[in-house]
Amino acid sequence: MAAASLFRDVPQAQPVLVFKLTADFREDTDPRKVNLGVGAYRTDDCQPWVLPVVKKVEQRIAGDNTLNHEYLPILGLPEFRANASRIALGDDSPAIKEKRIGSVQCLGGTGALRIGAEFLSRWYNGTNNTATPVYVSSPTWENHNGVFTAAGFKDIRTYRYWDAAKRGLNLEGLLQDMENAPEFSIFILHACAHNPTGTDPTPDQWKQIADVMKRRFLFPFFDSAYQGFASGNLDKDAWAVRYFVSEGFEIFCSQSFSKNFGLYNERVGNLTVVGKDGDNVLRVLSQMEKIVRVTWSNPPSQGAHIVATTLTNPELFAEWKGNVKTMADRILKMRSELRARLEALRTPGTWNHITEQIGMFSFTGLNPNQVEYLIKEKHIYLLPSGRINMCGLTTKNLDYVATSIHEAVTKVQ
Ligand SMILES: Cc1ncc(COP(=O)(O)O)c(C=O)c1O
Repeated sequence: MAAASLFRDVPQAQPVLVFKLTADFREDTDPRKVNLGVGAYRTDDCQPWVLPVVKKVEQRIAGDNTLNHEYLPILGLPEFRANASRIALGDDSPAIKEKRIGSVQCLGGTGALRIGAEFLSRWYNGTNNTATPVYVSSPTWENHNGVFTAAGFKDIRTYRYWDAAKRGLNLEGLLQDMENAPEFSIFILHACAHNPTGTDPTPDQWKQIADVMKRRFLFPFFDSAYQGFASGNLDKDAWAVRYFVSEGFEIFCSQSFSKNFGLYNERVGNLTVVGKDGDNVLRVLSQMEKIVRVTWSNPPSQGAHIVATTLTNPELFAEWKGNVKTMADRILKMRSELRARLEALRTPGTWNHITEQIGMFSFTGLNPNQVEYLIKEKHIYLLPSGRINMCGLTTKNLDYVATSIHEAVTKVQ
């Protein structure tokens, strides 16, 4: 008799919601179907977009006989790391001038968060600090929780962020939670275009946040996954990160180039470390190198090469900024068109939040029953939280989506 499987007791894991939603969408044969769940840019024809600047650089790479497929260094491509950090921190960053920054090329923004979390779980403010509270915003991108748990952190907490009644930031709650957090707690902060709420603190509010964090010795770990998507302007979208650095904080900043370069499946990310001095940063990087070695050993080259080539060539850089603006502008247009339609239909409630929120996502305020109605009856796919990706909207489906939301709000409680 054959032995029973060694894996017989493995329970079936729940599918990852946002990927499951896309799979359901693909199987749906209704011609009216719309996917507002996916976290990726789409053109007005509902297609993925290869940025023209990326296509250009890829063609150059294909014709460059000096390139090969040798391993990259463990910490990644030096030109990529330095220039990725530069666009996060700014050309005239005091930390760059004082040579107290370092970076690690990572597998997407997720990889950067994970390497940062792994490092902190081993070395943050001493050693073996998995008991340090890690605070994530309520709500947040669901993977924050998973990544820090997987790195061994045992005390993941939430800080207040979203005020559902006001459909905006709960600044008071946020500041109170920071006041009450144990000193040296780690705070994950969305650098811009907060996922899923599309609501960011204003510069003045960021100043208040920084004040409390400084006084309470709280550690800012910025997650920058949408630089350029909030305002269309890279510098404006990096304001918070740069302000914290100018205030003397030591920070980590994970960057994803998935969205702003459209390089989702190339897995291009960077983790920037800003320290008190260069010596500290070198020791931190030496430990991160050990972590990378046992994680993916060394990173992939193609995506990092595309980004590095673009960021180091003034013409390509200008072209990329234009491509980012094209994406940001289309999203802004969809926001105002959706709001205008809902208001014209006199859909109950207020819809100004649709245009006040920024970035790729909007937190519509639709409840889980209304979401279910939209999926089942209208073939419009979105997350149960009511988050929609504005890029799923096009000039062709706006009317259908707006009338469907109107029906959901008026028919379903
Ligand atoms: C807030 C946030 N952080 C990080 C990421 C991860 O990005 P990447 O796909 O580059 O791992 C995402 C992607 O959706 C995100 O929304």
